[in-house]
Order: sequence, then structure tokens, then C-alpha cells
Amino acid sequence: MTAHHPTAVIILAAGEGTRMKSRTPKVLHSIGGRTLLGHAMHAARAASPQHLAVVVRHERDLVAAHIADLDPSALVADQDETKGTGRACECGLDVLPTDLSGTVLVTMGDVPLLTGQTLTELTQRHESSGAAVTVITAELPDAKAYGRVVRDEQGDVVQIMEYKDALAHREAGDHYRHVVDVREINSGIYAFDAAVLRAALQEVGVDNAQGEKYLTDVIGIARRDGLKVSALLIDDLWQTEGVNDRAQLAFLGKELNRRTVDQWMRAGVTVVDPDTTWIDADVSIGSDTVIRPGTQLLGATTIGVDAVIGPDTTLADTEVGDGASVVRTQADTALIGPGATVGPFSYLRPGTELGAKGKIGGFVETKNAQIGAGAKVPHLTYCGDATIGEGANIGAGTIFANFDGVHKFHTTVGRHSFIGSDSVLVAPVDIADGAYVAAGSAVVGNVEAGQIAVARGRQRNVDGWVARRRAGTSTAAAAEQALAAAADAAHAPPSAATDSTPPRSAQ
Ligand code: UD1
Ligand code: MG
Repeated sequence: MTAHHPTAVIILAAGEGTRMKSRTPKVLHSIGGRTLLGHAMHAARAASPQHLAVVVRHERDLVAAHIADLDPSALVADQDETKGTGRACECGLDVLPTDLSGTVLVTMGDVPLLTGQTLTELTQRHESSGAAVTVITAELPDAKAYGRVVRDEQGDVVQIMEYKDALAHREAGDHYRHVVDVREINSGIYAFDAAVLRAALQEVGVDNAQGEKYLTDVIGIARRDGLKVSALLIDDLWQTEGVNDRAQLAFLGKELNRRTVDQWMRAGVTVVDPDTTWIDADVSIGSDTVIRPGTQLLGATTIGVDAVIGPDTTLADTEVGDGASVVRTQADTALIGPGATVGPFSYLRPGTELGAKGKIGGFVETKNAQIGAGAKVPHLTYCGDATIGEGANIGAGTIFANFDGVHKFHTTVGRHSFIGSDSVLVAPVDIADGAYVAAGSAVVGNVEAGQIAVARGRQRNVDGWVARRRAGTSTAAAAEQALAAAADAAHAPPSAATDSTPPRSAQ
């Protein structure tokens, strides 16, 4: 079969979306990590049209900027004061070449589950049937306020009647009084012959219940002119479902997620609990990776093969290498190398890069930190604005003090260096390869290769302090008993000694 591609796709996105009750235009609300308009543009592009035009009006500048962001080659068409889907479509045609021929698809900016595959099927059906118009229809148990598909005795589509107009006919009790009961609805997604569409729209008026220029009137005009109108009845009702309010936004968001999760499971990813796993549309996951409950993979996140993610993990725009394990972690714009381990309870902020087989452990926060292969930041650390060499070990409770209240500074820890627990590395500071920092140090100066930096108060033990300053306390009683026992042991004959190990000397 030869490939069928539309000459153009026009996406209608000028409507206000008042039921969203939002300062944000409806088509800029998101599900699955993409705006509603982003989904519509994605599906349109997947049908490989020569031209893509988006019709805007409400919050025009915001929407136009978003379009340019997503797809600089998409054309933005401004709708004027004349209302209705027909006028919107006309404005779309106005930004396309005047000699446009072939198939023009019309879709809507607020129908996010429509796929490129369905649009390709629509184009194919339209072009091979020789129809002037092909409309995607669906049969609903309750047709609600959708436009009704009116067919003749032969079953051919003759007209689409808007709900309000169908209601008016019922009240008038005329020939069309039963149209309101029709369950086959117009999805609002069509394929048109470009020339037919352009000519018919010039004829469409605003004489209807809503005083709008209806795109649907093109169908009646085509039929009047003896042209063929076809319908593509689709079973997957989700693909025609639009978003009008926040409840529908969540409802369609959940279904989109179900589809995305399902697709990854079919591709060889284990998802332990699909109900609590959220995967954005642009995420990719390698086979044999296991996603545990409560995980959200957002934005442009990519996960390699054989990784384990979760439970209770949120990764945004994060890259995880093959075989890595990321447990109870929040990460944004981070890079986790192959075989690395992260978590539990880790917070990886933008610019974190963990090398192969490296470790970021419990209660560790990192930001703009390059941590080398095999390096470890295992416990209770803040590591910001740092470069850590391969194989280095950052002891428990280390703080990279990167901020002096005004400016941020950088810290370097060299290859295979060792930072003792509870140290503060006051940036800017360089610790060379193969260096040590003693536990509890506050390091303010550079440390050279092979050196140990000891930067803490020297220990001083004061005999008899407890007896003098804490007399009468249980601590003083315990000290007295211990000292008496030690004195007894010192005077006892050697054979009676129970323990000859000298006490560990203090520094
Ligand atoms: C339209 C169809 C109806 C169909 C329904 C499917 C017409 C006259 N009716 O009805 O048969 O069942 O869609 O959802 O076409 N838009 C503009 N400019 C406008 C008006 C609308 O760009 O002036 C855009 C909206 O942003 C939206 C789409 O067109 O994306 C549909 O508009 P909407 O007002 O929802 O049309 P309906 O009256 O629901
Ligand atoms: Mg609507």
C-alpha cells in the first residue's frame, strides 16, 4: 500500500476553555508531561504532513510562544472575532499556501489521546475511498452535547447537526425531531479535500442556535454538491475525548498513563504496581528494568536496562544507566551512572552526575556535583558545587559548605581521597588526589596529595572533673564505682586479674 500523508494538519486551539477556571489557557494544561496542545501537535507530526498550522486566539501570545518552543516550523494562525470552528479552520487555511491541494486534516488542541496512527488511518481511508470529507465518529451510550451524525436511508452521512440545533428541532417537532436521540457523534476530527474545504467554508454562515460559523456545515454543502462523505467509526472512544474541566483532565491523564505503563510492560519492563506508577509520554525505559510501587518518571527521563527504580521515587529529566538502583529518591536533571546505587531518602538536584558504580546513600542531598566512578557519598551529607574524583569516600555527615551568604564556591576532592566523618569543607577548597581529612575537621585550606588535614580542637581530658562539678549525680556515682573497680584491679595479685587489656589511650 502506498503511504498516505496529509498535505496539512490544522489544529483548532482558539477556544477559551472557561470551565477549566484557570489563568492558564486550557491547551497549556498538561497530562503525561506534555501540554494538551503538545499531544495534539505530536499526533499531527506523526502523520507526516507537509504543513502544520495551529489556530489561536485566547491568550494568543502565550500559546504562540509554546508552539514555537515545541515546533518552530509549525505555523501560528490567528482567529479573528468571528466565532466557530468553521471560522477557525478558515483562519488556519489563510496561513497555508493558496494553491494547497490534497488532504487537510483538522483536529483539536484539547483531545490529547488521539494518536498519529489514527490520523494516518484517517488519511488512508479518506484518500482511498475518494471522499471529499471523512469524519471520525464514535457511538456513545450518552451523546451528551456532541454534534449528531445524520445518515440517510442508505446509511451515508448527510449532515452533522449540533446538539443545540437538534434540541430546537425536537421542540419544533419537525422532520429532524429525532436527531437528538442519535448516538453516533462527531469527534470533531476530519479529513478534507483542500479545495472543497476552502470553497465550502466561504458559503458557511452563522445562522444557527449559537450564531457561529460551524465547520460541520461543510459536510452538508459537500453532499449538496454531490460529493462523497465518509465516516470512520472508531471503537477507542478515549481518542475522541476532549478536556473541558479539571476532572476530565485528571480522568484522561490517568488513562494516558495506563496506556503508557502498558506499553512499557509490553516492551519488557516490570512494573510491580501500574496503579501507583506514573510515566510521562517522553520517558524511555530499557528492558528488564523493574519499577517498584509509588514511582514517577517525568519529563525526558531515560532509564537503562536491568535497573531497579523505586519504591517511592520521583525522577524528572534524569538519566539512569544500566543496572543502577535508585530507591526512595527524588532527582531532577541528574545523571546516574551504570551500576550506581542511590538512596534510600536521597535528593539529587540539578547538575548531579554520579559515575559508574558510584554511591549516593541515605539522607544525602547533592547539587551541581560530579561524583566520579566508584566514589561514595554514603550517609547524611550535603554535597553542592563539587567535583569528587573516582574512588573517593565522603564520610558520614560531611557538609560541602558552598555558600558564604552572598556567593557560591566550588570544592574539589581528588581521586581515592578520604574525607573523615562530620567534616565541613569550606569552599573554595581543593583536596588533592590521595589525601585524607581527619574526622570532625573544618577544612578551609587546600590539602596536597598524600597529606592528612586535621582541623579540629585537640582532645584534653581533665581528671576528677565529674566528681567536682557533678557531685551527687548518677554520673558521679558511676565514675566512683568504675574508679574503685580499677583501683582494686590494680592492687589484686596478677593471677586474679580478669582483664589485662590496657584501656584504649585517648589522643
Ligand atoms: C465541536 C463540533 C461538534 C463535535 C465537537 C467534538 C462544530 C460546530 N461542532 O463542537 O460537532 O461533536 O466539536 O468535540 O464544529 N475552536 C476554535 N475557534 C472557535 C471555536 C472553537 O479554535 O471559534 C476550537 C476549540 O478551541 C476546540 C475546538 O475548536 O479545540 C472545538 O470547539 P468547541 O467549542 O469545543 O466545539 P463544540 O461546540 O464542542
Ligand atoms: Mg467542545
